[in-house]
Amino acid sequence: MVKIAVIGSCSIDLTVEAGKRPAAGETIIGSRLIVSPGGKGANQAVAAARLGAQVHMIGCVGDDAYGTMIINNLKTNNVDTGYVSVLPGQNSGTAHITLAEGDNSIIVIKGANDLVMPKHIDTAWNVIAAADLVMLQHEIPLPTIDYIIGKCAAAGISVLLNPAPVQPVPSEWLDKVTYVTPNEHEAEALYPGKTSEEILLMQEERFFMTLGKAGVAYAKNGKVHTVPAFVVNAQDTTGAGDTFNSAFAVARCEGRSLDDSIRFANAAAALSVQKLGAQGGMPYLKDVERMLGECKK
Ligand code: RIB
Ligand code: NA
Repeated sequence: MVKIAVIGSCSIDLTVEAGKRPAAGETIIGSRLIVSPGGKGANQAVAAARLGAQVHMIGCVGDDAYGTMIINNLKTNNVDTGYVSVLPGQNSGTAHITLAEGDNSIIVIKGANDLVMPKHIDTAWNVIAAADLVMLQHEIPLPTIDYIIGKCAAAGISVLLNPAPVQPVPSEWLDKVTYVTPNEHEAEALYPGKTSEEILLMQEERFFMTLGKAGVAYAKNGKVHTVPAFVVNAQDTTGAGDTFNSAFAVARCEGRSLDDSIRFANAAAALSVQKLGAQGGMPYLKDVERMLGECKK
């Protein structure tokens, strides 16, 4: 069984659906509020577990009702929460999402996610060190991510960095991790002034650039390849990137080729956008196999 350790954010998504986005100074009436589990870290943990990996989540929640919801949801999805710390007197992270005009816009309040510290990494080190792959995103403090990347590199542990949301990061990180999965904006923030093609060619078989409907691009043997996305009717793209990352991680750890892993991950992401909520449409292994025509029965 593939072992994944996800170190990152656990949040509650507060999604408002409305016919349009309000302009500055404007008040409008929306159609509904959806309260659902999210946070890039927890989303990636749930996606990997649904695809059959053994997953440990390492992170922090507050001692509020959302924290309880977050932990219960991880447990329901077979994610180990032994290293999710409940921090007294803190709020759990929340994401404030507007779903309007076919797209989302998100404001993240980090809450307890901003208090994931090196001591939490040290405490969980036995499960981190035993993982086939460690998954990281940008919703916990950058100094903690720096600590994790340094420690994993020294111990020879593979790391996938999903550099979202956009933050400028030290360039040494990029040489120490195994895979980096930026979108175009995140890639540009990592290498200011360089084109997508230049970046991919500098980071052959390590950078996988997600291009939404255009698929995923990466470089191999001095050439950029694009693996097309599946064309589906999207209801809510929140969490599609998280599903992609975990599906790619699980497929790679299972020994699939780069191309195959991306196809597998594109299929998983395409399934995920067909239901509301970050974790709403996240597929199980059999769903992805069925989509790819790989189903055994
Ligand atoms: O990647 C999607 C996630 O980003 C949402 O679930 C929300 O929590 C935001 O942090
Ligand atoms: Na979804």
